[in-house]
Amino acid sequence: MKTFQERVSEFSLEAKATLGKVKTLASLEEFNASFLGKKSELNVLMKELKELSAEEKKVAGPAIQKVRTELQTEYETKKNSFETKALNEKLVSDWIDVTKQKFTGNGSQHPISRVQRQVEDIFTSMGFEIADGREVETEWHNFDALNIPAAHPARDMQDTFWIQKNSDNPHENAVLRTQTSNVQIRTMMEHGAPVRLIAPGRVFRSEDVDTTHDATFYQVEGLVVDKNISLSHLKGTIQTMLSELFEREVKIRFRPGYFPFVEPGLEVDMWFEFTTKAGEKKALWLEFMGAGMVHPNVLKNCGIDSKQYSGFAFGFGLTRLAMMRYGIDDIRLLFSQKKDFLRQF
Ligand code: DAH
Repeated sequence: MKTFQERVSEFSLEAKATLGKVKTLASLEEFNASFLGKKSELNVLMKELKELSAEEKKVAGPAIQKVRTELQTEYETKKNSFETKALNEKLVSDWIDVTKQKFTGNGSQHPISRVQRQVEDIFTSMGFEIADGREVETEWHNFDALNIPAAHPARDMQDTFWIQKNSDNPHENAVLRTQTSNVQIRTMMEHGAPVRLIAPGRVFRSEDVDTTHDATFYQVEGLVVDKNISLSHLKGTIQTMLSELFEREVKIRFRPGYFPFVEPGLEVDMWFEFTTKAGEKKALWLEFMGAGMVHPNVLKNCGIDSKQYSGFAFGFGLTRLAMMRYGIDDIRLLFSQKKDFLRQF
């Protein structure tokens, strides 16, 4: 029978020989399981150690500990070096030469962003603030507060994407806003009067898409509430904005129109001059936007005294304005991602 000491030395020799031959991480882990793991001879020896006499333990204990520590240290060192090597190899194989990419030219500003910035510049120069609004809105802010009660046919004028519609309480239902007019409500409720703002942003309607309609488009809402505000202020403001934008004197005209949140309500047309693809110069009255004097109910809903304050509001399609400004005849091009189209701007 071999002595305990002999078994330790034999184990040590065999383990070191095996470890010396290890070339991969996988075989290193195999070594770990069979020589250092639970089922290993080492573990058996450690258990048997407890049964030795105190005298024998004094010699055998440190000897086996020494073997164990040596093997473990060597195992850790090898493991580290295998891992480092694997990482370095991956870094080399994953490396991409980013400078190899072909330069495809500078990007450009999207025509809608471009017109939006121009419009913002013009309005801020007239003392307007730019307000931001929510795209997901409560039914109340999108409709009720704007004097469009539940059963009102005006709700059907705008085909709505409902996010949540299971309550009788319009504060608990949610829509993708159908108009930027919701910004009027939130701003007046928060800041009261006077107000002078525009609110550009995206709106959503469940519409069939064609050359002039898309389910997502951009609008600009405008709102001025102060003492002694009249429709002549509206006329001056819009005429200035369009003349600046089109870089010539633009004429506008008012026609009666119906929007529940204004009284009187108006349709505003602009005299639009353009050149056809065949080079012909043309001009016509083009419906440009809805507007009017803010309805007293809307002011009341926002806690503003309609005896002291009056205001005008307007809303126009920024997408449509961009199309007019740049002679774009198909709305679908705007979000087509077509480079040939976008490079023109
Ligand atoms: N919110 C209307 C729409 O989307 C546009 C509009 C009309 C806004 C008249 C106004 C307004 O502020 O006074 O069709």
